[in-house]
Amino acid sequence: MSYVSEKSGKDGKPSYSKGLEGVIIGESKKCFIDGERGYLAYVGIPIEQLAENSTYEEVCFLLLHDRLPTERELRDFKKLLYSYREVPSEVYSIIRSSARYGVHPMAILRLAVDYLSIFDEEAEINTDNLNYIKALRLISKLHTITASIGRVIKGLEPVHPLEDVSMSANWLWMYKGQKPSEEEERIFDIILILHAEHEINASTFSARVVVSSFTDIYSAVVAAIGSLKGPLHGGANEDVMNMLSEIKDPSNVEQYVRSKLSRKEKIPGFGHRVYKNYDPRAAILKSIAEKLAEKNSRVKHWLEIGKRIEKFMIENMGQKGIYPNVDFFSGIVMSYLGIEPRMFTPIFATGRIVGWLAHILEQLKDNRIFRPRIIYTGPEEINYVPIDQRS
Ligand code: ACO
Repeated sequence: MSYVSEKSGKDGKPSYSKGLEGVIIGESKKCFIDGERGYLAYVGIPIEQLAENSTYEEVCFLLLHDRLPTERELRDFKKLLYSYREVPSEVYSIIRSSARYGVHPMAILRLAVDYLSIFDEEAEINTDNLNYIKALRLISKLHTITASIGRVIKGLEPVHPLEDVSMSANWLWMYKGQKPSEEEERIFDIILILHAEHEINASTFSARVVVSSFTDIYSAVVAAIGSLKGPLHGGANEDVMNMLSEIKDPSNVEQYVRSKLSRKEKIPGFGHRVYKNYDPRAAILKSIAEKLAEKNSRVKHWLEIGKRIEKFMIENMGQKGIYPNVDFFSGIVMSYLGIEPRMFTPIFATGRIVGWLAHILEQLKDNRIFRPRIIYTGPEEINYVPIDQRS
């Protein structure tokens, strides 16, 4: 009996890589990572240049169209995107009612996006044009949903979106109920740009797998949210901040990290399947945190602890290719903006929604259903035993 597909490896032998390490699952124009040198580019443009010069809206266009927009295209794109911000009142209601159970904001987000699909009469129609419009709607509405969750879990009422400000200014407005300063808007924009896309990570892969059955795109986004939520993926940013709070003082770092490692526990915000060098997004966030630390004592305190952990980890684990990832410094920067740790992963999703949708649309354009094999390790053919004859 053959337990794996005869096509699955050389000489008919099974090819298997735990966690699909090194396995190529398709082709994509969206993102390139060179993990050895710590290089990342969206559609060919290095992340450092995008963080320095671009905006989240422009990055959304880039990822959805595989090129930068002209001035006019960007103006029209923004107008359309901003016009989709409001969500049905029922979505605010489900956020309020699920928040009462004290569940994690990512669980509320998953539920709210699923619920949103009910109000889209075109949810099940999978044409290129409609899916593109649905993608824009989802990007805009997800921003409204995450900001509203952020308010409701603090016992506040949602603040409705504005139509004439950037995605970043609007998010901070909806979350805080006041317009952000230019500096805050720019910092948040960079956070969204850095989280917008990252090749075939677990959540993006989940989205591509789900949509490959030609189901609706909401189902794929809900799957991606569920995947991002985990502590090995987007959930690590919240864990990092909790770790910094637990450590309390830079002098406690070495003992804390040593004892965690001796218990074979992972240090959140470190390590990556692809990067075996410094994650370039972490480098950008660290330099922002360093600038903020010059004028903000809380950031200075968190950064002092963070840098000690980083030094210890690189000295002790660097030879294994373990360096800070995007989740390590992002929380310190987000806390400067007055955002609480529970909201860090929803903000990751707020940036990443465009990457998920760009991949979903790309998958649908040249689809083949994902259907790999698994090595069967159960018993060989055995006979059914009637229940009264079982010992
Ligand atoms: N702390 C301590 N040791 C680590 C860490 C870490 N953060 N990350 C990896 N290692 C060690 C492992 O213990 C393992 O050691 P071993 O070979 O002696 O057993 C080795 O490095 C390889 O680790 P794996 O877990 O097998 O690596 P994998 O590629 O499967 O996982 C992952 C990558 C999930 C990111 C892992 O490094 C990790 O759990 N990091 C902490 C959580 C985290 O920061 N996640 C966010 C990732 S970025 C993102 O999703 C946005």
